[in-house]
Amino acid sequence: MKVVAIVGSVRKDSFNRKLADFVQKRYGDQLEIDIMDLSILPLYNQDIENNEPQEITDFKTTVKEADAVLWVTPEYNGTIPGVLGNAIDWLSRVDKVMIGKPSWIMGASMGNLGTVKAQMHLRDILFAPGLQSPVLIGNEVYIGAVHTKMDEAGNITDEGTVAFLDSVVSNFKKWMERFA
Ligand code: FNR
Repeated sequence: MKVVAIVGSVRKDSFNRKLADFVQKRYGDQLEIDIMDLSILPLYNQDIENNEPQEITDFKTTVKEADAVLWVTPEYNGTIPGVLGNAIDWLSRVDKVMIGKPSWIMGASMGNLGTVKAQMHLRDILFAPGLQSPVLIGNEVYIGAVHTKMDEAGNITDEGTVAFLDSVVSNFKKWMERFA
């Protein structure tokens, strides 16, 4: 099963990037996960959407060829970061590669709420007409106080969090089998 991970932070030491890397490593035998670099995407501009830059064509092709998208996002000002909104705007236009493609959302923050507001907004955005991406109900991953659960190298050191991730990955795989 091919999954493309879209991380809403381009920061070098991003907790969310480390979370995506951890998921890629730990579940690599079950899911083939490609992690996208959003920093190379130009800003969305409707004037060029029908003659898009090569980076956008490549990004859309990767998403199109994946069985599902894993969104791993921080929360900025109570919602999704602009860098993620930019990627979503491109995906929602012209060939609309997200339509019908299953999505899965995770997020990590140092605060206790673990990006809950950003994730609720993201889920709503994914239901927009240009995206129409189904999201598995009840399989949310909010990792709060992430700095106490992850080491510098990005290993999740909190056993409860790892066990929780094991269970949500299993739920996600079972759900994905319905789309096969
Ligand atoms: C934040 N941060 C933040 N945290 C949060 O829990 N709720 C929020 O609304 C915000 N808002 C916010 C806005 C902006 C512009 C920045 C830069 C930061 C803190 C944020 O969770 C923290 O910087 C994370 O470490 C960002 O995720 P990465 O880059 O570590 O993946």
